[in-house]
Amino acid sequence: MNSLERLAALNTAAELGGGKDKIQKQHEAGKLTARERIDLLLDSGSFVELDKFKVHRCTDFGTADKKIAGDGVVTGYGTIESRQVFVFAQDFTVFGGSLSQAHAEKIVKVMDLAMKVGAPIIGLNDAGGARIQEGVASLAGYGDIFLRNTLASGVVPQISAILGPCAGGAVYSPALTDFIFMTQDTSYMFITGPDVIKAVTHEEVTKEKLGGAQTHNQTSGVAHFLGKNEADTLESIRTLLSYLPQNNAESPPVRASKDNPKRETPEIGKIIPDNPNKPYDCRDVIRAVVDDGDIFEVHERYAENIVVCFARMDGRPVGIVANQPQVLAGCLDINASTKAARFVRFCDCFNIPLVTFEDVPGFLPGTNQEYGGIIKHGAKLLYAYSEATVPKITVITRKAYGGAYVVMNSRHVRADLMLALPTAEIAVMGPEGAVNIIFRAELQKAADPQAEKKKLIDNYRDKFANPFKAAEDGFVDEVIAPELLRKRLVGALKMLKDKRDTNPPKKHGNIPL
Ligand code: HXC
Repeated sequence: MNSLERLAALNTAAELGGGKDKIQKQHEAGKLTARERIDLLLDSGSFVELDKFKVHRCTDFGTADKKIAGDGVVTGYGTIESRQVFVFAQDFTVFGGSLSQAHAEKIVKVMDLAMKVGAPIIGLNDAGGARIQEGVASLAGYGDIFLRNTLASGVVPQISAILGPCAGGAVYSPALTDFIFMTQDTSYMFITGPDVIKAVTHEEVTKEKLGGAQTHNQTSGVAHFLGKNEADTLESIRTLLSYLPQNNAESPPVRASKDNPKRETPEIGKIIPDNPNKPYDCRDVIRAVVDDGDIFEVHERYAENIVVCFARMDGRPVGIVANQPQVLAGCLDINASTKAARFVRFCDCFNIPLVTFEDVPGFLPGTNQEYGGIIKHGAKLLYAYSEATVPKITVITRKAYGGAYVVMNSRHVRADLMLALPTAEIAVMGPEGAVNIIFRAELQKAADPQAEKKKLIDNYRDKFANPFKAAEDGFVDEVIAPELLRKRLVGALKMLKDKRDTNPPKKHGNIPL
């Protein structure tokens, strides 16, 4: 065999991975192979593979003669919408995609390149964790990856797709990345699977219920996106990247929009009900102001009392945070606080301006929340907004009460622009609660307590439950008619485009974890 024939044979062997039978099994399980996934993810024909012939160095437990070119992971670089990305895709047909030391070295190589070049790294995970036959060498490999995930955090976007049963170490690298995508019915994440759980705690649970895509998108919040199938998941990764800069030194990409930046938005006045106790979908307000009504929601199924999404305003990407009045009246609870805090910090890392739509009656009361540590979790959101130095604009659409008023990007935590609709109510608490507390004695003495209470509530509402007192104090910069909101936001983002702000020099802050 001459060297060209040898090259061809090696290429064929590497591309077959664990062999035809295992590929067929993979397809029967509703999953694609690593190479098929890369083809769907990247611009056609752009992928360049590295370390295609690398093999493991283990000799124990019958592995000496089980060396497969590539060792269960396909790594390299390519483009998405003509922008550079680095990628690794684990191949479940080879040792269940498990991570040997050689396999880890391949991933580390593309991670190091991504950092040097300043480009996103995307991991397509489909692995049973550390390669059990290799022992500590494979654990070392995971350690090398975790360290790089941590060092790359906030420097280049890191994206993980979970495309199979990911266990053990295979879930911790994704957990350190910025966004996790899962796929309906075929992806799982757990530290230990159902069998180990049964043996240790006698608890019986299915793989799906323990760590399926629904569980992690809805219950744990570990995952941020849920794809209908693998093609859908991979397409969503491409969409997400369209909002992100290549690295923390760049601005997010501008995409020309045909939507008139001065378009009037009178519909906002109709979306927000006059009755402050009536719910509405905050997404309708967001869609009204952003380009073409297009939003890309993150954590759509988790902590639905707050909405976080990417969108564009006159072609420029923005990160939007909005209290959702139709779920828990838009109260901030533990999950909503951590969800929004993480999103705010991501946007701040990557120079994406923040627009906050505020309609929040306060933090959710109750022992569940207090015992769960709402104090420290709510503080995460306060911390995230306070430390963020990207352009920060707030629109108070209705309620801005109490601590939640301060937390939700108020003037006091360095909002650059505070807008309020005429429907805004800015106070320490709702009028009824306020009157019950400060006029308790008067109400007890009153001849007609109901009539007296109504009078006092109306009085409190006139005084505080509107945006005008805050505007008098300069805490609100402008009380704005709903129809002018898009125009004003587009203009304000343009005004703030070159904003520079800094935090005091420090090694790093100590966010309340
Ligand atoms: C070596 C592995 C493997 C592993 C799976 N395989 N996991 N080989 N090391 N970790 C192999 C199987 O032996 C099998 O080989 C093939 O991959 C497919 O696996 P199946 O079990 O047949 O597939 P399935 O039924 O779909 O189950 C997939 C699975 C299960 C849920 C991932 O294989 C599993 O539970 N694996 C072990 C998970 C685990 O405990 N990993 C170690 C975690 S410790 P053949 O040749 O038969 O096809 C860890 C430490 C890191 O990761 C800590 C960092 C903090």
